[in-house]
This record gives sequence, C-alpha cells and structure tokens, in this order.
Amino acid sequence: MSSIHIGAKVGDIADTVLLPGDPLRAKHVAETFLQDAVCYNNVRGMLGYTGYYNGNRVSIQGTGMGMGSVAIYVHELINTFKVKNLIRVGTCGSIQQGIHLGQVMLAMSASGDADANSLYFKGMHYAATADFDLLMKAYEAAQRLRINTLQGSVFSTNTFYDNEPNRWEKWQKHGIIGVEMETQMLFTLAKRFGVKALSVLTVSDNIVTGETTSSLDREQSFNDMMKIALELA
Ligand code: HPA
Repeated sequence: MSSIHIGAKVGDIADTVLLPGDPLRAKHVAETFLQDAVCYNNVRGMLGYTGYYNGNRVSIQGTGMGMGSVAIYVHELINTFKVKNLIRVGTCGSIQQGIHLGQVMLAMSASGDADANSLYFKGMHYAATADFDLLMKAYEAAQRLRINTLQGSVFSTNTFYDNEPNRWEKWQKHGIIGVEMETQMLFTLAKRFGVKALSVLTVSDNIVTGETTSSLDREQSFNDMMKIALELA
C-alpha cells in the first residue's frame, strides 16, 4: 500500500529518513553518498531514495518548502511507512551578527508561525523540541568528524518574503540561531506520533545583512551537514 503523496510500498523506506527540502538534493545525496540507492518515489517529482551508508540502510526524501508541504511527507512517512527517525537536512538564514555563513547547526528547539500549530493548540504555544538521543548522537558524530556545530533554537516561518524591516529583532534578542521553514512542524508531528526527529542545518544567507554564500562554501558546509546526518543511520 502506498500513501497519497509517496508512491512506495511499505518496507521500501528505511527506519531512518533524511529530509532535504529540495528533491534534487535527495537525488544528489543518493548518487554521491549512498551505495545501491533505489528511487522509490517520483510522485510530484518529490524524489525519495533508499540505499546504504557504511552498511546501514537509510532513506532520503524531498519534502518541498514550508510547513504545509513538510507536514504531508512527515505524516505519511510516519503513519503509512512506519519510519522511526526523521532528520531534516537543510539551509537556514542567520539573524545574529556572530553567526557566519556555512555554520552547521543542530536545532534543539523550534519556535515558529505555523497556522496549523496555532489552530491545533487553540492559540497556546507548544515548545517543539528535537529528540535528545538523536541530538546527542549528532553532536558526538560532529565531534568525531571534527566538524564545528552550533546548538540552539531556530525559528520556522511560512513566509519567506516579508516587507517588515524589524521583523527579526525580537527573535534575535531571544537567541534564535537560524530561520528556516520546516523544523517546527517536523518536531511537533514527530512528538505527536511518538517517533524521533532532528534538524541539521547550514547557514546559507544572512537575513539581516543580505550576505549569501558562494557555491563552493555551500558545497563544503552541505557535505559536513550530510556526513553528520548520515552517521545517524
Ligand atoms: N528565510 C527562510 N528560510 C530560509 C532562509 C530565509 O532567509 N534561508 C534559508 N532558508
């Protein structure tokens, strides 16, 4: 049996799934990091692959951008395909002076503006947090690999473009280390359904200064992020 948006059979997807927003990044990672990778999904071009990393079975599934899209894939991965560990691998914007482009981050928690969460929790605020076991394992893997990581809280937004000039001031003051568009929903759904989740992110741009990474730097920090996440398979 497949699900509405994932045309795979139960059993085609590994217990641990890496979740990039971009489906072509899923393809790239499957082709460069995995052995014996098989594509199990092409519905809406949202590519998904299962293969092996250091002998461990792992899948990588594109999610699209934003919390509406990631919620669909996460829900189906957990409820139809019985996935146990969901690890977002993506980029984020920096809103802090001292955080540089290319910095790899492990998200401990995610604030955000997901309407689906406000409605579900009747206007109250749920503190969406990473699974501690995955967080600790990722941190230990990064130390072994000698990759510097920053741990902290991120903000997930459903609005990429916004005209409000001081939009990030409050969040900057409250120590948010990165802004992206999926983690709050991923953490909330993982907790709701009793599975584990983590977000590993790299800083691709500075939202305050408008600085963006060169493609070479992006590649290096992207590879570092992937190596950490793949160690969790
Ligand atoms: N905003 C939201 N999500 C992002 C950004 C951003 O500036 N950069 C990378 N992901």
